[in-house]
Amino acid sequence: MHKHLEQPIFKLIGQVADELQRPCFVIGGYVRDIVLCRQSKDIDVVTLGSGIELAEALCKKLGRGAHLSVFRNFGTAQVKYRKGHESWEVEFVGARRESYSRNSRKPIVEDGTLQDDQNRRDFTINALALCLNSDHYGELVDPFDGMGDIEREIIRTPLDPDITFSDDPLRMMRAIRFATQLNFRIYPDTFDAIKRNKERIKIISRERIADELGKIIRADIPSRGFILLDESGLLPFICPELAALKGSETIDGHGHKDNFYHTLTVLDNVALRSRNEWLRWAALFHDIAKPRTKRYDARLGWTFHNHNFIGAKMIPGIFRTMKLPLNEHMKYVQKLVELHMRPIVLAEEEVTDSAVRRLLFDAGNDIDELMLLCEADITSRNAEKVRRYLDNFALVRRKLEEIEEKDRVRNFQPPVGGEEIMEYFALPPSREVGELKSAIKNAILDGIIPNEREAAWQYMLDQAAQMGIEKKV
Ligand code: CTP
Repeated sequence: MHKHLEQPIFKLIGQVADELQRPCFVIGGYVRDIVLCRQSKDIDVVTLGSGIELAEALCKKLGRGAHLSVFRNFGTAQVKYRKGHESWEVEFVGARRESYSRNSRKPIVEDGTLQDDQNRRDFTINALALCLNSDHYGELVDPFDGMGDIEREIIRTPLDPDITFSDDPLRMMRAIRFATQLNFRIYPDTFDAIKRNKERIKIISRERIADELGKIIRADIPSRGFILLDESGLLPFICPELAALKGSETIDGHGHKDNFYHTLTVLDNVALRSRNEWLRWAALFHDIAKPRTKRYDARLGWTFHNHNFIGAKMIPGIFRTMKLPLNEHMKYVQKLVELHMRPIVLAEEEVTDSAVRRLLFDAGNDIDELMLLCEADITSRNAEKVRRYLDNFALVRRKLEEIEEKDRVRNFQPPVGGEEIMEYFALPPSREVGELKSAIKNAILDGIIPNEREAAWQYMLDQAAQMGIEKKV
């Protein structure tokens, strides 16, 4: 631990605090991450009295390269420093006592002791403080045995969890997020309090919840977080559509799989092979329309017709409510949800060149990730079935490569453009032009003509003649 505190910046902060005769500590996530050997960028420093004064004095001492921002409303200040290779950011705050009223996140804040400041923190592992004053340099102040909890791998609140969560309900999400990221367990008392306070999550903004969900989904084994969200009762407040995936129904002795746990297996499978956050969201939502499309048919058993198309249609609404971005990432998730059945259907039936070409055309550059999602989607416990699917997928992959090499449809650019057609026949923009364009595209995708200019032009002329379109002279 002391190795980190040998950095000149910590010595300097300690010196400035000594000169002002102020007790001063590094606190919170930074200390936790030192102990856990995790990378951490944000350094938080707490002092008794004004954090702003300490920051100002430090800035003066550093001179050039230091930049001070003061947030008087919050009683905090930030110092950014950059000189040569050295660059860091430190937040300064005065130790405080906080109390919250029931219907607002806005606390009543007063000056306090270090212990007051540690009391108001979310978890024991986040309440560790290291002294920076020279007479106690590097000494750990750990009133709640946060070090023991790190060793035991436990997330626990310093005070009565009902108070900690009621003060700031986002902490319920943070508990689950830390448990997921660090692979820690949530202490039973703490977890029971989440169950009791779950409804309070409603007063937290969707943006802050989305931030935590992002951290959960980017973790190594994201399913842990979603299982905890479910077990705590938070999930229906956060994404009712996901909660609706839970459970299995049986009619005439025929059950269907629990789509919630299936989805989480797919998510973990994808997470093992890709760090792409949006591919992970696609995995989470790939079967989102199954509850809505579920039917039982005496002949066919359980069906979920069109769940991929309906699922894709549900994505914008879900993203809007959850304050996920409504941009190209959303479009990507939509596209993958819509296409996630295609390679499976291909692998089940005969793999024709034209079906492979159409898949390449529709998936474009996302084809590799789509294939990854589809392979991850095979969660059957029947080893024979899994082997058969994976073999077929290997065949689909080979075909995809072969056809792409030959026909280059992955980034399809029409070899004959609408402008040229209009010019040649002296046509205005019209339905006929659109029809000719799609006739060319379909002929290429169906393998009737090669993806080449000359063949496409001739084909276009033939089609135009059949449609009675003539060149004006
Ligand atoms: N904290 C808290 N309650 C919150 C948010 C933060 O008590 N709702 C305290 C914790 O002591 C935390 C510190 O403020 O360690 C810094 O918070 P933040 O930077 O949000 O999180 P970190 O713990 O540093 O973790 P991460 O960087 O992974 O978000």
